[in-house]
Amino acid sequence: MHIVHIAVEMAPIAKVGGLGDVVTSLSRAVQDLGHNVEIILPKYDCINFDHVQDLQFQRSFEWGGTEIKVWLGKVEGLPVYFLEPQNGMFWVGCVYGRGNDGDRFGFFCHAALEFLLQSGSSPDILHCHDWSSAPVAWLFKEHYMHYGLSNAKVIFTIHNLEFGIHQISKAVSSADKATTVSQTYSREVSGNPAIAPHLYKFHGIVNGIDLDIWDPYNDNFIPVPYTSENVEEGKKAAKIALQQKLGLRVADYPLVGIITRLTVQKGIHLIKHAIWRTLERNGQVVLLGSAPDPRIQNDFVNLGNQLHSSHADRARLRLTYDEPLSHLIYAGADFILVPSIFEPCGLTQLIAMRYGSIPVVRRTGGLYDTVFDVDNDKERAQAAGVEPNGFNFEGADASGVDYALNRALSTWYDARDWFNSLCKRVMEQDWSWNRPALDYMELYHSARKS
Ligand code: ADP
Ligand code: GLC
Repeated sequence: MHIVHIAVEMAPIAKVGGLGDVVTSLSRAVQDLGHNVEIILPKYDCINFDHVQDLQFQRSFEWGGTEIKVWLGKVEGLPVYFLEPQNGMFWVGCVYGRGNDGDRFGFFCHAALEFLLQSGSSPDILHCHDWSSAPVAWLFKEHYMHYGLSNAKVIFTIHNLEFGIHQISKAVSSADKATTVSQTYSREVSGNPAIAPHLYKFHGIVNGIDLDIWDPYNDNFIPVPYTSENVEEGKKAAKIALQQKLGLRVADYPLVGIITRLTVQKGIHLIKHAIWRTLERNGQVVLLGSAPDPRIQNDFVNLGNQLHSSHADRARLRLTYDEPLSHLIYAGADFILVPSIFEPCGLTQLIAMRYGSIPVVRRTGGLYDTVFDVDNDKERAQAAGVEPNGFNFEGADASGVDYALNRALSTWYDARDWFNSLCKRVMEQDWSWNRPALDYMELYHSARKS
């Protein structure tokens, strides 16, 4: 099958959040099943071209009053077409945040379809993502399906319903199939007016992670390669390296890691509470977070200063986006905390488990579908065919986080052997794309038949 993703993020060259991870890793998984997968992406000036192999100019075409250059390169083994409008709309130093993102990405979607049409491409599936490439769905329905692209079916995936509800609404109604990134989130949003009339074509498919990209046995950013066989040794070395790198006291503390965009979605008040609770229980805490909103950024700068004077040896906040550091935290932490208010899927809890760190999460969306509480979810885990793998909590107040975090820390302090066996267990669970990629293929096939 010939599948073309039209997207505005792609890891590792233009990643802002999990959407970028999914575009790359889903594509690789489907390509591994033997299909022809291509990606069309804007050619931002902020792309790190060190990660693009064999970049070559292909051709240019006129559209929307400007010349658009088309480049073809390989990213993580995937063919990527880069569209570069010569009016400079993607030469602004960033992916999002220029105030006219809607216009820029609307233009990009139109140009991508025009490129496919003019180059005589005949994809079976056009797969678009979130509000930013939602226009593909209705532009296709209104124009392009009546021209040369008539063979294609459109799949629209919602990674987050919080942004661009008008675009999302129009795309859900135009697409042949719409999906979101976990079953529980699909139920949580099923009453939304953008979704409710279209439930017959709406599916929840949980994300996976790319086991080659997230692999503690083959990771340049951690000191000792490890598998579940030597997880204790590998994580101990990573914890020491992390403590040294951040200037924390090097000692055997339970270490809670948090790796997140700092937005209201991610449960900011719960994150703050958990930091103080961990310190009270004599743990260490490391937060790596980037805040798009300057007020939230300021708030955390202040908290960082406060912690620096009160707990310099046990708490560190790094308020930036730092991929290498994220790897070291996944490996060096004992726990990864994800107390999101809502979470369509969440990848950090899955990456955590791949690195033998125990997830502590709020019971919502994809967190609910992937983290099964060791005390409370035995039956639910059995039904899902996995062993319990973490700690979770209900509610959105401090007592909820305390409930999960206290049990997690007590396990570390009082039942160390059992805790270590849990680390080994979560590493051996399969949160890859193996299963979800097959679900997407089934969906693509059923779209072709519709
Ligand atoms: P979302 O897409 O809502 O931000 P996900 O959990 O789906 O949440 O994906 C987040 C991705 O971004 C993960 O790969 C995570 O490791 C990465 N990430 C988040 N914040 C940072 C950061 N400050 N530095 C490095 N990586 C980060
Ligand atoms: C969004 C969601 C996140 C999900 C990611 C990838 O950013 O917030 O939960 O994991 O998309 O689908």
